[in-house]
Amino acid sequence: MLGEDIAFFPGKDGGIAALWDRCPHRGAYLSRGFCLFDGTVSCPYHGYTFDETGTCVAALTEGPDSGLNGKLRVRHYPTAVVRGVVFVWMGETEPVPIEEDVPEELFDPEYVAVPYASIWPMNWTLTIENSGDSHNSYLHRFRLRRLINFSAFQQLPAYWSGIRIVEETDNSIGFVPAVDAPQQAYYPGVEAKWSRQVWWRWRKQRKPGVETMAKQPYRNQYRLPSIARVNTSITHLHTRYATPVDENHTLMWTFGVIRTQTWWQKLWAKFYLRFWYYIFTIRGVNELEDLPVQRYDRLDPTAPQKLGANDQAIIYWRRRMPLKSRDNVRLWKKGVHIVEEMEAQELAAQQEVGD
Ligand code: FES
Ligand SMILES: [Fe+2]
Repeated sequence: MLGEDIAFFPGKDGGIAALWDRCPHRGAYLSRGFCLFDGTVSCPYHGYTFDETGTCVAALTEGPDSGLNGKLRVRHYPTAVVRGVVFVWMGETEPVPIEEDVPEELFDPEYVAVPYASIWPMNWTLTIENSGDSHNSYLHRFRLRRLINFSAFQQLPAYWSGIRIVEETDNSIGFVPAVDAPQQAYYPGVEAKWSRQVWWRWRKQRKPGVETMAKQPYRNQYRLPSIARVNTSITHLHTRYATPVDENHTLMWTFGVIRTQTWWQKLWAKFYLRFWYYIFTIRGVNELEDLPVQRYDRLDPTAPQKLGANDQAIIYWRRRMPLKSRDNVRLWKKGVHIVEEMEAQELAAQQEVGD
């Protein structure tokens, strides 16, 4: 995660412990080790044994009186489990309560949330930006498999007319795309209409969740640390938590979320999310349509870019959110300017390439 290898093992109290995956003795991978004693992991090489805080509690091959006990340490990462998913605090500064960094619907029993995870071969920031950009009516215009769930017949505006940022908080921006264009428009440069044919598109779009779901005034949200949410309808949310693995790989968690009130709604929601939604939205749309154009070998995020009115949320996200990241805000007060340092490093790297 974030370029660091992490070893997980069961903690004493039923939680999950996370340590840097390198033994401080001679570097063996702790993830290849053994859980020989409650709440510990023992290195596969010489059996040095570490507890949940990363402290060596027994150096098995050094004997019971080893001076390393209580002294030798490996970095440990605080964890919390929500909806069966392990969240790891990777920050440089003190951890905050998990409720601050995980969307509220995942703590609310009214919402059924089913998580899916898979590795996407692309940079994590692109997975966020993709969630609220203007590709929808073009990239998702038609695939044969869309006949099966009737989305091939859904009306789509020919273009977007910009994006309205309607909310900015300490850790998020909320926005509403202007999607009231007709289905077809004439493009004089190519002397043709786009979309070419729309006669089969008779199904109205579902009402977006604006001002309905949890009284949020936005349809889309980008949120720190790496969350993108879409109110897909009055009761449905599409919540992505993009976990950077390394520069070109993202462990993409997608939570299909539905607000329910009765037991039979809950049952239906679980069934719908586990089967229909997973197959037709997460696999069928996100992984088979969105992912292929943005993979690291098909999209170059370092190429010069010309962002426009439909990219306003992306501009906001890129410019303002890094400054608001918790480590940046906290370390800024101590005189450490991590965003500026990163920008300087990037600039230096670009100049090197230029040279
Ligand atoms: S390398 Fe881990 S105990 Fe020696
Ligand atoms: Fe998409």
